[in-house]
Amino acid sequence: MCGIVGYLGLKEAYPILINGLRRLEYRGYDSAGVALINGGINLYKTKGKVSELEAFVVDKNTKGTVGIAHTRWATHGEPNEINAHPHFSESEKLALIHNGIIENYNVIKEKLIKSGVKFTSHTDTEVLIQFIEFIQKAEKVDLVKATQLALSQVVGAYAIVIVSRDEPDMMIAARNGSPLVIGIGKDEFHIASDASPIIEYTRDVVYLDDEEIAIIKRNEKLQIKTLKDQQKTPFVEKLELDLCALEKEGYEHFMLKEIFEQPKSIRDSIRGRLNIERDTIAMAGIIDFEQRFLNARRIIFTAAGTSWHAALVGEYLIEELARISVEVEYASEFRYRNPIIDERDVVIAISQSGETADTLAAMRLAKSKGALIYSICNVVGSSIARLSDAGSFTHAGPEIGVASTKAFTAQVTVLTLIALLLAQKKGTISKSKFNQLINELDTIPSKVEETLKVSEQVREMAKIFTYTRNFLYLGRGYNFPVALEGALKLKEISYIHAEGYPAAEMKHGPIALIDKKMPVVVIAPVSGIYDKVVSNIQEIKARKGKVIAIVSKGDKIVSALSDYVIEIPHTDEVLSPLLSVIPLQLLSYYIAVMRDCEIDQPRNLAKSVTVE
Ligand code: F6R
Repeated sequence: MCGIVGYLGLKEAYPILINGLRRLEYRGYDSAGVALINGGINLYKTKGKVSELEAFVVDKNTKGTVGIAHTRWATHGEPNEINAHPHFSESEKLALIHNGIIENYNVIKEKLIKSGVKFTSHTDTEVLIQFIEFIQKAEKVDLVKATQLALSQVVGAYAIVIVSRDEPDMMIAARNGSPLVIGIGKDEFHIASDASPIIEYTRDVVYLDDEEIAIIKRNEKLQIKTLKDQQKTPFVEKLELDLCALEKEGYEHFMLKEIFEQPKSIRDSIRGRLNIERDTIAMAGIIDFEQRFLNARRIIFTAAGTSWHAALVGEYLIEELARISVEVEYASEFRYRNPIIDERDVVIAISQSGETADTLAAMRLAKSKGALIYSICNVVGSSIARLSDAGSFTHAGPEIGVASTKAFTAQVTVLTLIALLLAQKKGTISKSKFNQLINELDTIPSKVEETLKVSEQVREMAKIFTYTRNFLYLGRGYNFPVALEGALKLKEISYIHAEGYPAAEMKHGPIALIDKKMPVVVIAPVSGIYDKVVSNIQEIKARKGKVIAIVSKGDKIVSALSDYVIEIPHTDEVLSPLLSVIPLQLLSYYIAVMRDCEIDQPRNLAKSVTVE
């Protein structure tokens, strides 16, 4: 949430900063702002998206080779121009951008007000920059020291960048809990919330750690210190990110591009791990901690949103194949409910962004109690990847559309590999079943390609349901989490109320909602409980509900009962979520297009939820 960018170098900063904000807009788009050093500080901000900031700034002075910029997802204070970042200190000598939340801002604000400091916004961020300036004056210390002293008294999460009118060739950055990357180019430095604004200028980056502060000065080397003033040696890493992956490449929206990328992202998540000839799965992270996994009392998944749905699929996979007891926890609940965990447990955090605040907090809690911390994550260098004892990356490539699609199928792919590997090591799967499943997994990328051919059919179907107000999604077994995921996708991007349910649970309540206006999406591929799902469909039809069925190719029984049928290729039930979720992603996408919704940046949402 919130994207921050900074630049200090020889080039004009403004175009670089705007370009960076566009890349980070997925993190929030309530307001945007920029501050440029050019003699004084020229600061411009507007409500709304980056494009509105650009329009506003068109006739302004944007000169300067040092600057900071911000795109906001509002936490404290409504999304308007006053609350937009950057924020000035009272003297307007300092400007600050911030991603995160200062939890004790009220206490600090009251103290400052008593000392005569005047505030203009309702944000926690303004409190921080006013506090830094207050300390600078009161303690007669330089800006670095004042920042260290202020941050030592702050409770909460932050990634910040500060510029100063009096020291125009310097930027100060710091982080605690929110992500921050520093790019080191030739005679220039870039700062950003993630690597996407940096990649076209340099591949050399430094990821700041919690409670570290970076001092960036023209013609000097990057300096890193802790809040307690301990000097640190910057660890420079090479970025491996493909610039094309950050562009729409001819698709109308990132979401559609990402849906269509799934054959590749699944293939990339399998590549180098699955060896069909030798019947082996190579996953270094699991093998390094093989005994901890095999002897685990429980595996506990912790995640949020779509990643939590992937974790539910993981529960079915690991319990069925590897016979290890699994629990799936919302990170936001787990962290506050004093869970019973010890060193016999393995906690697996699942996250696309690797920055979700609740997931990070759940991991820290589990770590403090001695559990092994594993992560399944899409972003190399992210906080979740760095906090784990070991992990497996999903290799889905950058996911930019706010609604998660290819990350989900990549997570389920990695979970399938983990379940199969653990089952093989534990001896809970027969050689022939293992063989059959790995061979089938290997065909999944091409079966996803085939599934994507339903796109036109789903687009036509979306026309029928454009103005429907409620949807029900039902599935059983491996496809129950897919029902949840389908409903979430529809809610997120088309703002239609939708609920996902285990199909048989319907008669314990939701069945009361069914009438001829209620479309019910039933995920019913061939499975061990196919007959049970058929009965559930009959219950819906008896109440005149409209059934949209996702079935295996050539299906006769469910197809005869349903109003609309979408066929997917045959696969083993265990792998079916990787196919059955695709038409649901497309359905939500096309309905949202017909409703003229903001597909890649749905209202009120942000991609990387770095506040709790
Ligand atoms: C749904 C979606 C969110 C995320 C959730 C967790 O389309 O994008 O529900 O899945 O915020 O995010 P990560 O996976 O980055 O931890």
